[in-house]
Amino acid sequence: MNFEGVYEKTILIVKPDGVQRGLVGEVIKRLEMKGMKVVGLKMVLLSEEKLREHYAHHVEKPFYSGLQVFMQSSPVVVICAEGKDAVAAVRLISGVTNAAKADAGTIRGDLAMGMCNVVHCSDSVETARQEVTRFFEPNELFEYDKTEWLHVYMEDELA
Ligand code: PPS
Repeated sequence: MNFEGVYEKTILIVKPDGVQRGLVGEVIKRLEMKGMKVVGLKMVLLSEEKLREHYAHHVEKPFYSGLQVFMQSSPVVVICAEGKDAVAAVRLISGVTNAAKADAGTIRGDLAMGMCNVVHCSDSVETARQEVTRFFEPNELFEYDKTEWLHVYMEDELA
């Protein structure tokens, strides 16, 4: 098997509410149950500078200062997950931003009630590329064969 470079990488951040509520394992479990490969994983206290970069398009919005305080209220867990169409797949299992409206069966729909929505996930392939380099150094990302993928994908889906 050689999956290198074939599949998308995407970023999930288990936000402070998810860390405080003990949901880190649940989020990782859902990624693993979906058949995704975790290729990067770390706990970090996000700096003001990193948050301004990450939420650059929201910095001028009225909720930004509250969002910054919230995102710095505890460490977060940043996950890089890999798989076929990983960006769309992770968005699907995360559910919509407002957890009150997220479908049952999604992370937000099952585990949250409002804007404390447990996870951030990359919203497009281009954003995912930027977020992977924003949160991980090259030596923090791992390339390995996941033998389980022989039972996740049909042969013609594999590289
Ligand atoms: S937008 O304007 O539609 O792009 O914004 P949206 O995608 O809804 O939200 C962008 C991120 O900001 C967070 N957010 C908030 N945090 C705290 N308080 C309020 N009121 C609020 N509104 C939006 C929202 O959870 C998104 O965070 P991420 O990390 O991207 O999930």
